[in-house]
Amino acid sequence: MLHISEREVDLPKVIAGDLANILQKNKDIISLSFGEPDFKTQKEVVNYGKKFLDKSNRYAHDKGLLKLREVITKKLKKDNQINTNPENIILTSGSQNAIFCSLLSILDPGKKIIVPSPAYLGHIPAIELVNGSVEYAELDEDFNLDIENMKKLIDSETKAIMINTPNNPTGKMYSKKLIEEVADLAVENNLYVISDEAYEKITYGNKHVSIGSLNGMEKYSLTVQSFSKTYSMCGFRLGYVNAPKELAEPITKTFRYVGIAAPTISQIMGYEAMRLGDKYIGKICKEYDRRRKFIVKRLNGMNLTTRMPEGAFYAFANISSYSKESVDFTKMLIKKARVAVIPGTEFGKFGENYVRLSFATSMNLIEKAMNRIEKVLK
Ligand SMILES: Cc1ncc(COP(=O)(O)O)c(C=O)c1O
Repeated sequence: MLHISEREVDLPKVIAGDLANILQKNKDIISLSFGEPDFKTQKEVVNYGKKFLDKSNRYAHDKGLLKLREVITKKLKKDNQINTNPENIILTSGSQNAIFCSLLSILDPGKKIIVPSPAYLGHIPAIELVNGSVEYAELDEDFNLDIENMKKLIDSETKAIMINTPNNPTGKMYSKKLIEEVADLAVENNLYVISDEAYEKITYGNKHVSIGSLNGMEKYSLTVQSFSKTYSMCGFRLGYVNAPKELAEPITKTFRYVGIAAPTISQIMGYEAMRLGDKYIGKICKEYDRRRKFIVKRLNGMNLTTRMPEGAFYAFANISSYSKESVDFTKMLIKKARVAVIPGTEFGKFGENYVRLSFATSMNLIEKAMNRIEKVLK
């Protein structure tokens, strides 16, 4: 038999793949599964892109278009209080790609990275793909980082910490104090921090804190941000990492061989989206906020205990009143309620007892889905 790499064989088979197939064949199922905004990309952005379609058939610079990196530099300063320059920013094909190339550049095979868990389902497989070793640091009962727990996991093989705020799947946003404690851990132990900030703008009142803004952290922090959620541009595949000076070239070199350059047309459109400013973001957040309040109330009303998410667009519901296994519960919901959610186990070691429901879908469908679930649970 022809050989398939162990790396590939060992990768977790994400339920998302199966779900996509099930959803395709069963149009009556309401999907609250995927983290994909249901809003359209701004018309102005699309129209701007159209004008450049015939001019964007060339590779961009491997770090990305300079004018876009200049705008991002200004944005990082203004919105995130991060001082940087265009040379340290590498545009990639989505932020997942930025995370992967960052991991390739900082983690030798077998070296450890601390991942507070439950964690976004793309982090752990990416670490496994680079043959890194995941150290799961369980979050506390409020879904906050447990610094003592993280501290205990650090040894001479540990090279980095991964954080994600606003968090997918918990909806938690870490306070400045907590972020400062992570920064202290990094400095004391000489660790890089990959800060996944894909949802930095999808917030409901709390202020997002970038670890890269803290004094001295420019040497340790890799700030990863995305156009996918902020501007509803998932399909255009555009994200970036702002790296410490000495890592910018290694990551650029890695990305050159992984992806050559981020799609030129997406960068042109991303530039226009940033030029248009935050008005669009205010509008979508207002609607997410309405759905957030609705879904959390309904879930709690049926004993699926759910904390109010502070950011992102997920409700992370505790299912222990009904089931011990989130996969069984998910299958039951698909079969009986015709509603698709993601089982907590997809988010790593400490995700059991929960399911994640995305509210990046219309209010009408969310309400229908809640009615169906309620009927089945009764
Ligand atoms: C926390 C988090 N990080 C990164 C990503 C990847 O996003 P993209 O590659 O589209 O930028 C996602 C997508 O759902 C996410 O939820």
